[in-house]
Amino acid sequence: MNFAKGQHKKSLLTSILVFVAALLFVLLIVVKFKDEPLEPSPKNKIQSSDIVDGIHQPTGLKDDEGMMAVVTHCTGCHSAQLVIQNRMNRERWNATIRWMQETQNLWDLGENQELIVDYLVKNYPVSEKGRRAQLQDIEWYELTIN
Ligand code: HEC
Repeated sequence: MNFAKGQHKKSLLTSILVFVAALLFVLLIVVKFKDEPLEPSPKNKIQSSDIVDGIHQPTGLKDDEGMMAVVTHCTGCHSAQLVIQNRMNRERWNATIRWMQETQNLWDLGENQELIVDYLVKNYPVSEKGRRAQLQDIEWYELTIN
């Protein structure tokens, strides 16, 4: 076969581009997984595909340090929604955990308790509005049917 010179150049360029793209891709993967935090429970290993837009899809919890401890210790008896909906300060979280331990058979959380409460206080603070603010000054437009 007799390749035209221009065509040969073009395919070389394409190879280089593909190579560079592959290199960037590998680099991206390395950077992304380099600092993956170690989580307390090996059986609840987090899958990177579980996190979409910072939300852990199986539970709805925000992705942050301590999240897997919450998944491990706080979603076995009730939904994570029950946890998310209750916005409390540190003292009330510790009291709620103590209440569950005394009345609902929640186990001793050990050093995970601090990790869990830190996570909850940080990601679901009391002051944050549970709902978006009401819309104001809306300019309604006419719906027209063509
Ligand atoms: C051993 C089972 C169990 C585990 C594990 C558990 N809970 Fe609970 N929790 C319960 C039960 C039972 C209730 C009461 C549910 C109800 O009222 O419907 C409850 C209620 C709650 C409530 C609502 C309290 C209220 O005043 O209404 C919150 C918030 C909560 N749990 C958070 C957590 C957190 C945070 C963890 C992890 C540290 C956790 N739970 C782990 C059993 C558990």
